[in-house]
Amino acid sequence: MRYITTPIYYVNDVAHIGHAYTTIIADVFARFYRLKGHKTYFLTGTDEHGQKIEQSAKLRQFTPREYADEISAKFKNLWDEFEISYDQFIRTTDENHKLSVQKAFKKMFDKGDIYKGTYEGFYCMSCESYFTQTQLINECNCPDCGKKTELLKEESYFFRLSKYQDKILQWYKEQEPIIPKNKANELINFVENGLKDLSITRTSFEWGIKLPKELNDEKHVIYVWLDALMNYVSALGYGLNEEKMDFWPAHIHFVGKDILRFHAIYWPAFLMSLELPLPKFIAAHGWWTKDGEKMSKSKGNVVSPKEVAETFGLESFRYFLLREIPFGNDGDFSDKALITRINAELSNELGNLLNRIIGMSAKYSNNIIKSENVMEFFTEEIQECKVYIENAIEALESIQPNKFLEELFKALSLANSSVSKYEPWNLIKNQEVKKANALVALCANILAKVTILLSVVMPKTSNKIAQAMNFSISTSDYQELIKQDKIIDFQTKTCEVLFPKIELKQEIDRKENEKISSLTQIKIDDFKKIEIKVALVKACEKVEGSDKLLKFQLELENGEIRQVLSGIAKFYKTEELIGKQVCVITNLKKAKIFGYESQGMILSAQKDEKLVLITPQNFIANGALIG
Ligand code: ME8
Ligand code: MG
Repeated sequence: MRYITTPIYYVNDVAHIGHAYTTIIADVFARFYRLKGHKTYFLTGTDEHGQKIEQSAKLRQFTPREYADEISAKFKNLWDEFEISYDQFIRTTDENHKLSVQKAFKKMFDKGDIYKGTYEGFYCMSCESYFTQTQLINECNCPDCGKKTELLKEESYFFRLSKYQDKILQWYKEQEPIIPKNKANELINFVENGLKDLSITRTSFEWGIKLPKELNDEKHVIYVWLDALMNYVSALGYGLNEEKMDFWPAHIHFVGKDILRFHAIYWPAFLMSLELPLPKFIAAHGWWTKDGEKMSKSKGNVVSPKEVAETFGLESFRYFLLREIPFGNDGDFSDKALITRINAELSNELGNLLNRIIGMSAKYSNNIIKSENVMEFFTEEIQECKVYIENAIEALESIQPNKFLEELFKALSLANSSVSKYEPWNLIKNQEVKKANALVALCANILAKVTILLSVVMPKTSNKIAQAMNFSISTSDYQELIKQDKIIDFQTKTCEVLFPKIELKQEIDRKENEKISSLTQIKIDDFKKIEIKVALVKACEKVEGSDKLLKFQLELENGEIRQVLSGIAKFYKTEELIGKQVCVITNLKKAKIFGYESQGMILSAQKDEKLVLITPQNFIANGALIG
């Protein structure tokens, strides 16, 4: 049995390639285990409670429930469009989940692992995480995301995390559950430094799971991370019908490195308290950037997975994400990097090999590929291929998907280079028909073995290849062709070109044309791409050496400060601007002006020699959206 999970994503944001990456990796593993014949359960879903969601909903004038419904559906629809093979999509607002969490809370409480006290410290709403004064950066900012924390003092229930410190360390050492292995050291240090008991309820907002009725304490809601982590067992019916608890413990929890700490420290402690076995692996991957920059809404450089899939093909995108970086490393996404892989690997190696096999078999043997003589001529090649295939499987089992693909492509390149080496067209000319046909059969067998494994990353492409060569992809084929390393016969038919080469230049032209044609008239969606916000002028000074420029420090929401340069020095004195609210485009690309970083553009109206700033008519909270 294999239980595979993704994080449940917060419903305060739409999916970007980071979310798609985690979900696609998990999908690959679920498909891999099913192919191998394991009974597999694959869970994904959305994390819908907590202060952050409550606030996001309020900002948009939705109830939290309406807001969660809308965004959760967007995630689910995307995964459906991507044919993610999940068995269950859990929402933390599901009734069963809530009941299950309350059962768990009660069990921990009855056991004495939960007690009541007062929490005093700092809270980062963005990370939904607690910090002590000494952990903060710049006195009040979150060490994980850099945003401002809030000082909390409220009645709270605590979980005896400290009690589990030694057991957690022992688990790291004995089971080595953390992937990549080098990430374990940071965790060991963190835990060895001492774990404090964890505040696991909040009273200052409403949007969360209430405490179990028996506790009779209405004003508390359960801490969103306890609520969220519990999804991994509530989905299996924990505390209720326990219907699918056979799948527990999880084989792999896939997470991004940002939330490894929650999964590797809190989660095992909760599980130990519940007397449940611990997961086999917690696999934390790295962070994706776009063209070298952190993706963020305010920068406007968030890559939509749907757009990438529509432009370049879903399967090429899946291949790219898994192949581009070793699991655990950060990666950079760019059209260029993706196109390079499509052309050099998918088109040149994979597509090309299929074409060659179809072409040669049509020419030499009426589309029939008999494999009877392969071992007579090509035992070495078959042996070499076997090593690549074994390495590939081993790589995937040890959660190195990039190495898995690398090994599979070594096998493809062995087949392609065998064609160049043995020149079948000359073999035919020299009457060595038997050897020429054996060569085609060698290539076909290599491609079939690779395709069966590749199906976990590129299911549709693999099916097309299988159809073109008349074999099938299933657990029994895996057993025969991979496990028993059998050599089989094929029959080919023509097939569309799998991966037409993409010209990078054409891509660029296409974008240029799009830009030009959108200059005169824009769609409402284009306008929505521009984020304009109200900001307060905290500070403003002249830029030395320039008679035009003023350097502003603008305050946005949550106290975020932005530096923006603006060429309005001739029209305003610095002192008359401080304390005023202005309107600013906040998702403009960063620029250097007079050696200063500027990120945004202050809006003004200009006619003839006159310039006036655009300001809100009445005071409104900083960061308010204009549109
Ligand atoms: O943390 N690169 O949800 P979340 C790679 N609800 N992966 C990225 C990424 C990027 N740039 N951005 C996001 C939460 N991710 C909690 C989880 S689980 C019990 C609760 C992926 O919506 C990555 O997997 O903030 C990361 O861990 C996750 O999205 C965070 O999603
Ligand atoms: Mg996050």
